[in-house]
Amino acid sequence: MKLYLQLFFALILFPFLVQAQAVNTPQLGKSTVKEVIAAMTLQEKAQLVVGATELKKASSTENGTTIGFTEQRVPGAAGIMAAIPRLGIPALIVSDGPAGVRINPIRKADRSRTYYATAFPVGTSLASTWDTKLVEEVGRAFGNEVKEYGIDILLAPGMNIHRNPLNGRNFEYYSEDPLISGKMAGAIVRGIQSNGVGTSVKHFSGNNQEANRNGVDVIISERALREIYLRGFKIAIEESDPWTVMSSYNKLNGVFTAESRSLLTTILRDEWKFKGFVMSDWGGGRDRPAMIRAGNDLIMPGRPGQSDMIVAAVNNGTLDVRSLDESVERILNIILKSPTFNKYAYSDKPDLRTHADVVRRAAAEAIVLLKNENKVLPFSNKTKSIAVFGNTSFKTIAGGWGSGDVNKAYVISVIKGISNAGYTVDNDLKKDYLHYFTRDSAVQMAAGAKWPKAALEMVVPDSTIEEKARTCDIAVLTIGRNSGETSDRDLEKNYHLLPVETELIRKVAEAFHKRNKKLIIVLNVAGVVDMKGWKDNADAILLAWQPGQEAGNSIADVLSGNVNPSGKLATTFPLNYSDVSSSKNFPGTPVEKPLSVIYQEGIYVGYRYHDTFKVPVNYEFGYGLSYTNFAVTSYSISKPSADGSFEINCRIKNTGKLAGKQVVQIYIAAPTSSLDKPAQELKAFGKTVLLSPGQSQQMRFTVRGQDLASFYSDKSAWVTDAGRYEVKIGFSSRDIQNTASFVLKNSVVVGKVNKVIAPVLPLNEFKP
Ligand code: BGC
Repeated sequence: MKLYLQLFFALILFPFLVQAQAVNTPQLGKSTVKEVIAAMTLQEKAQLVVGATELKKASSTENGTTIGFTEQRVPGAAGIMAAIPRLGIPALIVSDGPAGVRINPIRKADRSRTYYATAFPVGTSLASTWDTKLVEEVGRAFGNEVKEYGIDILLAPGMNIHRNPLNGRNFEYYSEDPLISGKMAGAIVRGIQSNGVGTSVKHFSGNNQEANRNGVDVIISERALREIYLRGFKIAIEESDPWTVMSSYNKLNGVFTAESRSLLTTILRDEWKFKGFVMSDWGGGRDRPAMIRAGNDLIMPGRPGQSDMIVAAVNNGTLDVRSLDESVERILNIILKSPTFNKYAYSDKPDLRTHADVVRRAAAEAIVLLKNENKVLPFSNKTKSIAVFGNTSFKTIAGGWGSGDVNKAYVISVIKGISNAGYTVDNDLKKDYLHYFTRDSAVQMAAGAKWPKAALEMVVPDSTIEEKARTCDIAVLTIGRNSGETSDRDLEKNYHLLPVETELIRKVAEAFHKRNKKLIIVLNVAGVVDMKGWKDNADAILLAWQPGQEAGNSIADVLSGNVNPSGKLATTFPLNYSDVSSSKNFPGTPVEKPLSVIYQEGIYVGYRYHDTFKVPVNYEFGYGLSYTNFAVTSYSISKPSADGSFEINCRIKNTGKLAGKQVVQIYIAAPTSSLDKPAQELKAFGKTVLLSPGQSQQMRFTVRGQDLASFYSDKSAWVTDAGRYEVKIGFSSRDIQNTASFVLKNSVVVGKVNKVIAPVLPLNEFKP
């Protein structure tokens, strides 16, 4: 009887007891984050700081994308975080990448529809717009896709510095200049995050090559690190408050960034006040407890046994549980903001049509007109029939490969764009090219290739070229270059044009010029290319970069004059590869698999090197032509305050015959003192609105005293030196319209920082 009663009460009361316990268990969002952490077991904390791929028995790879649990939620997304349902903590989804949402377009579980995402212009292309408003608008469209495809955090933007043109991932990044990089990253983050989703600003920091990216030790001076490689990240963080930062694969002066407390805590949090969390790159870092100690809060993508390592480290006293708690707290604070936590009912139907229009507009604004002899562009009314040459006129490249790739529904080729614009394209040539591609891939498949590689440039018979020069009004010839993750570009095969390409250019130029007809070259490239031996053959050169899925339409918009080009180089085109300041120190030693790379050029990267050391270039930083002309009709600079802050006011007038936009660039030459200084540095920029002929616009720029400061390693301080400052208003770094100057009476220490990440050996850095 007694037993019977006990059983009776247990059965009746048990559910209530369980419920009571659940009610008492803190729940994320209902209880404070601190209460949730207090209720977590050590195992749960360790679980939360490790990506959830480890929960799956095996991970697999499809299309180069890690598939973990994401397969059930957003197939193809790069990763998923851990969930702890007991505490109301859901798993967030993270997905690549910088040029568009990288998910699988076809789902095994749902064959009824597709899940394509928009391929936006790549980072280098966006930077060439020099238009932060436009980039923010791109970000808004981009973020909408992130949200509507059920993703919480986008693994973008990539914002490493273009230290060397051979870096395989430069296309994902913006510029050789930290101000442009920081402003662009800030703009896109603001746009994306305005949708209520997160970003991950990456790769923090010094990941400027793919060669042994997981092991290479970047040996760098404190000054170059602060002035060039960290500066852009600082600007982006201050201006956009990204939810997360991704640490990089490489070491900085001997320590993996993912394990560097100096980088992730002292600089990022203590100095810069970053509030979000840091995640590792996929498989980055080695020592898991050290990563948590450093402030690398989330270990991605997560592998079996990694959370056990964290638990063991806490138990054996090598990891203070307070460090772990801090990481958990930072992660929970972001989870609280996420769409998944807030149960956002995503549609899986972003407005791809509207976003395609944004892509077309942004890519056209990014196109840089490098050459336009005798105003051959825009096409005149007499231009009707066009002979289109070059493989990539037909197989136009929207973006690079690897995690920066996007599964897009289509890419508008150059030839399609030209014919969409109403021109007659030569159909025989088109047939020849298409036939060539079919044959080439059949040959590759027969030889056992699973994915046929891009075909070598087709050799067009001389007779065909002659005939087209006779029958068509003008020639358009596209040169294409692709690159991507895990390898750098080959100097001979990728940076230089191949003989088959220069031959094609030469022959087409000869045939057309003989008949007084012109040749336009379109560069559909992932990065800077060599121009020797072919540049002079082109009447016009249009640098389209990798413009995203509307490629051909954007290019045709500029060819036809529908859009007046206003893009400017955010990266220099040198005369020779050997004129790149890092050319002798790239990718490091030993060359086959570099263990270390010395940044001997110090702060002299890109134009900072060319201008200071007076090295001639092909096309300078900030360069880009327009179909119209501009002038600065008036300007003034305000009297600087005691710390050197001042304002520049100038009026820009369209003095030509077509409506257009101009980018106004403010360069400053600072006085040298005990420290050498670059000849000039970009300190502010802005783009006009579309100005009609005769119309003008007043532009105002504010330069803060701290923007003028240089980093003194011996003092661990930013100092604005006393002396004469030259202020230049330019349309490029070498097309200076006006110059003014002022004298700063006393030096100002604008910021003391911590002495961290110093190289152990002298670097013998370049000195002017
Ligand atoms: C790349 C990251 C990317 C991650 C996830 C890594 O290989 O370096 O940029 O976000 O993979 O796909």
